[in-house]
Amino acid sequence: MPRIAYVDGRYVPHDSATVHIEDRGFQFADGVYEVVTVVNGRLADEEGHLARLARSLDELRIAWPVTPQTLKMIMRQMVVRNRMADALLYIQITRGRAPRDFKFPAKAAPTLVLTCRRTKFQSPRQLADGVPVVTIPDIRWLRRDIKSVSLLPQVLGKQQAVEKGAFEAWQIDPDGTVTEGCSSNAWIVTEAGALVTRPASSLILNGITRQSLIRLAAGLGIPFEERAFTLDEAYRAKEAFISSASTFVLPVTSIDGKPVGNGKPGPLGRQLRQAYMNHVGTPDPVPLPAENA
Ligand code: PDD
Repeated sequence: MPRIAYVDGRYVPHDSATVHIEDRGFQFADGVYEVVTVVNGRLADEEGHLARLARSLDELRIAWPVTPQTLKMIMRQMVVRNRMADALLYIQITRGRAPRDFKFPAKAAPTLVLTCRRTKFQSPRQLADGVPVVTIPDIRWLRRDIKSVSLLPQVLGKQQAVEKGAFEAWQIDPDGTVTEGCSSNAWIVTEAGALVTRPASSLILNGITRQSLIRLAAGLGIPFEERAFTLDEAYRAKEAFISSASTFVLPVTSIDGKPVGNGKPGPLGRQLRQAYMNHVGTPDPVPLPAENA
């Protein structure tokens, strides 16, 4: 079964799928994207991802290439045609193809590309041990609320993380506060037991997983503070975790080589992960060992 991609109205073999060299996505990173996770054949948090896509397009004044309704249909077609039960579905929209010139082209149809990649989600080991993060200065632009395909700082950040044996790099603003991971939102549980994550603003991407977790935490009666936290506070946290479409809720057990709490995944992160997995319609494939409670 060949992998299938969608490019501007056609379903094509993934290996031979192309866009033009004068596509503004290639020339200027003039485009946006979304990553929707497919869990057991179902699109997780689909409405939230489409709402954020609409917002990103609107902020950059890029027109919808197809109606949202048609896009939903294409997304389902991609899942079916690729026969993937657990997958990451990427939607990318650029301002389209035009002779190279910085200003918006007078006439250009936006380019729409969808790709689908099989995924195994988190390994039992990652869930049992948690993952290490390192920290780096946040060198990104100031419209991080737009899910732009311009991702160079995150490419460099993730590479640094990998070279230091870490899973993710948390980005730190000049004022010493943690903004977010390179491809995830950052959370801590304070010494006093409050769940903390940074408020949505132009300084972070307002994660769809993040938004669902805030609602789920409220339903569970978990004490929650939506505020910026410093790296110092993170070092002293009882628990930490990251959230994103691809990692759901993934415990962070060390920051810059320092153990978080007792160095094991904590109960609040586990509770939220279970709640999120139920929300997307599937229990976690591997229950977490009780001794880490
Ligand atoms: N990344 N912050 C950044 C900078 C991100 O790139 C992402 C998502 C998130 C989490 O957002 P969400 O919960 O909507 O996935 C936060 C996706 C998964 C990616 O680029 O692969």
